Amino acid sequence: PKIITIVGGGSTYTPGVVKAILSKKDTFPVKEIRAYDIDEERQNDVAIIVKEVVKANCPECNFFTTTDPETAFKDSDFIFAQIRVGKYAMREQDEKIALKHGAVGQETCGCGGLAYGLRTIYPMVEILDMVEKYAAPNHWILNYSNPAAIVALALKKLRPNARIINICDMPVAIINSFADILHCDPHDIKPDYFGLNHFGWFTDIWVNGESRFEELRQHAIAHGYLCDVPDEQHWEPSWVHTYGNVKPMMERFPDYLPNTYLQYYLLSQDIVNDANPDYTRANEVMDGREKTLFDAIRRYKETGKYDDGMFVVGAHGTFIVDLAESLCRENGGRYLLIVKNEGAIADLPDDAMVEIPCYVSPRGVEKISVGHIPTFYKGMIEQQYACEKCLVEGAIENSYTKVLQAFALNKTIKSSTQAKAILDDMIIANKDYWPEL
Ligand code: G6P
Ligand code: MN
Repeated sequence: PKIITIVGGGSTYTPGVVKAILSKKDTFPVKEIRAYDIDEERQNDVAIIVKEVVKANCPECNFFTTTDPETAFKDSDFIFAQIRVGKYAMREQDEKIALKHGAVGQETCGCGGLAYGLRTIYPMVEILDMVEKYAAPNHWILNYSNPAAIVALALKKLRPNARIINICDMPVAIINSFADILHCDPHDIKPDYFGLNHFGWFTDIWVNGESRFEELRQHAIAHGYLCDVPDEQHWEPSWVHTYGNVKPMMERFPDYLPNTYLQYYLLSQDIVNDANPDYTRANEVMDGREKTLFDAIRRYKETGKYDDGMFVVGAHGTFIVDLAESLCRENGGRYLLIVKNEGAIADLPDDAMVEIPCYVSPRGVEKISVGHIPTFYKGMIEQQYACEKCLVEGAIENSYTKVLQAFALNKTIKSSTQAKAILDDMIIANKDYWPEL
C-alpha cells in the first residue's frame, strides 16, 4: 500500500481527490494520505471534510495534516501537487489588471498566466527539493499546479531530473463531453492530440478502433462542446459559455477540435468585450466553489452534519488517481501529458514541453510520436512557446526585458505599449511574490 501526500492540502479540490483515491482502494491500495500546506488554518478546515470522506470510504486509511515538509514527504510514494500561490486574491489581481488595460484577464492564458507563472516557479522548485530529500526513491510527483505549461518548462530547466509528471484535467473534461456527445464510455475514447498545455488540438477521436471525428466536428460546428448531458464539474454559466465558444473557433478553423483554452487567443477581443472588469472568474470561484465548501465546513462545526454534495470529484480527482494507478501496473494506460518534446512533434524545439499522448507504466512515461503539424498550428505554438520561454528565462535571469518580451509575444496582447503598461502594474501587485526584475 502506498503513501500519498497532497500538496496544497487546503485546496477545495482536496476532498474530491481523497474520495477519488479511496474509491480505487481495491486496485490501488493506499495506507496513508497526508495533506501538506503552508496555510495551516485553511488546511485544517478542509481536513474536517476530508476526515469524513476517509471515514465513509476507507476508515483503515490513515489521514493527517501537516505544515512540516519532513513529516509530509518522508517515504512518500506519490506527491499530488495543486498549489495556488497568492490564492484567489492574486488570481483576481491578474484578471482585473489585464482587463483594466483591455487585455484578456485569465488565470493561465495571456498576461494573467504569465503573472501566475512568475509566482509559482520558485515555490514549486522548493517543493521539488524537499520531495527529493525526503520522499521514497521511486516517488512520483503528479503536478496540477498552474500555469502548468510555464511551470513544466521552468522545472525542466531548473530541476531536469525531478521525478515529476505535469498534468492538466482539461483534455479529460473535454473527452468526457465527447463521450456524452457520442453516447459512449469515456474510457473507450482514444484521442490523438498535440500542442502545449491549454494550447492544443484534438486531431482524431477513436472509439473502439473507429474514428468518430467527423460526428464530433459537425457537433462542434453546430453547438461547440455543449450537449444534452451537462458536465457535473462544468455546469456553471461561465463554463457553459466556454464550451459554447468552441463553435466560432470551429466555424473558422474546422480541421481540428480545439482545447477550450484556445478561445483566449483566437477570440481575445470577444472575450474582453464580454468580460466584466469588476467581477471576474476569480470572484465567481470565491463566491461559488470556495464559499460553498467553507460555509459547509462552518455549518459542520456548528451542527456536526456532513453531506457529500459540497464538493465534486470530477475529472480533476479521477484523472490524477488513474494516472498514479497506471504508474503501478503494466499496460497502465494512455494519457495526454505535458512532456519534453524531443522530436515527438517534428519541427518544434526539443526542449519545448508539449501536451501529447503518452503510455504510462511502472517504467514511467513513454511518448507517442505526433510527427509534422500544419503551418498555422506550428506558428501559433511557436509563438506561445517563445512567450513562455522568455518568461522562464526572465524569472531565472531576473530580467525585466525578457519578461516584457514574454508579455509582448503573447497573442492576447496588442502591442508592446500595452504589454509594458500591464507588466508595470503587475510588478507592483506581485511585489511579495515575484522574483526581482
Ligand atoms: C480546468 C483546467 C485547470 C483550471 C481549472 C480552472 O480544470 O484544466 O487548469 O485550473 O479549469 O477552473 P476554475 O473553476 O478555477 O476557473
Ligand atoms: Mn489545466
